[in-house]
Amino acid sequence: MNNGKLVVLEGIDGAGKTSIAYKLIEELKIKGYDAIYTYEPYNTLYVKILKEEYNNYRTAFLDALTYAADRLLHNRIVIEPAIQTGKIVVCDRYYYSSAAYQGAMGAPIEWVLEINKYARKPDIAVYLDIDPKLGLRRRQGLSSRFPEYEKLEILEKVRQNYLYLVDKGLLIMVDASRSFEEVYNDVKKLIIEKLGVDL
Ligand code: TYD
Repeated sequence: MNNGKLVVLEGIDGAGKTSIAYKLIEELKIKGYDAIYTYEPYNTLYVKILKEEYNNYRTAFLDALTYAADRLLHNRIVIEPAIQTGKIVVCDRYYYSSAAYQGAMGAPIEWVLEINKYARKPDIAVYLDIDPKLGLRRRQGLSSRFPEYEKLEILEKVRQNYLYLVDKGLLIMVDASRSFEEVYNDVKKLIIEKLGVDL
């Protein structure tokens, strides 16, 4: 049997990926679907070794390769077995994060996509778009705190890379600057349309 589905949610921190994922899983379960939440980085030893042992030597290229290995293991350990048993897997970040973030740090996006070519293709990948300034504010909770300038600069690049992936037809964009209900309803509509589930 192989009738499971892979749903991916993408966006910068503060876009609401995790809350949307949890709500989606809750509703899918109510409708009788077997749905599970998972996330990336999956934090296998590859990622731990990179961060703990080789942190001073990191580059966008090493990060991309490490996340790609982490992802293939995540596929083997979590995603594929779940798909094989008919589950709907909702994954918080996937290889689009590598393209967007490692891309922003200097790795060519096409190369990042290439090294992730053998990870399972999602049935739908949604990008929750927000202005990074709003993302940082939502995360910090306080609008009076100054966001770290450099971080903001990187996040602007990350957003541009996500928008490039939208243009390429790899991600479907949803405006996530609105209320949770509005954003969730748009995501839900897309899921119904693309996966043919009864939600
Ligand atoms: P997170 O779980 O927050 O890790 P940490 O606890 O170390 O901050 O990971 C999210 C961050 O990882 C986020 O800033 C995006 C980044 N990331 C990449 O740069 N590339 C990837 O392929 C993935 C999956 C995440």
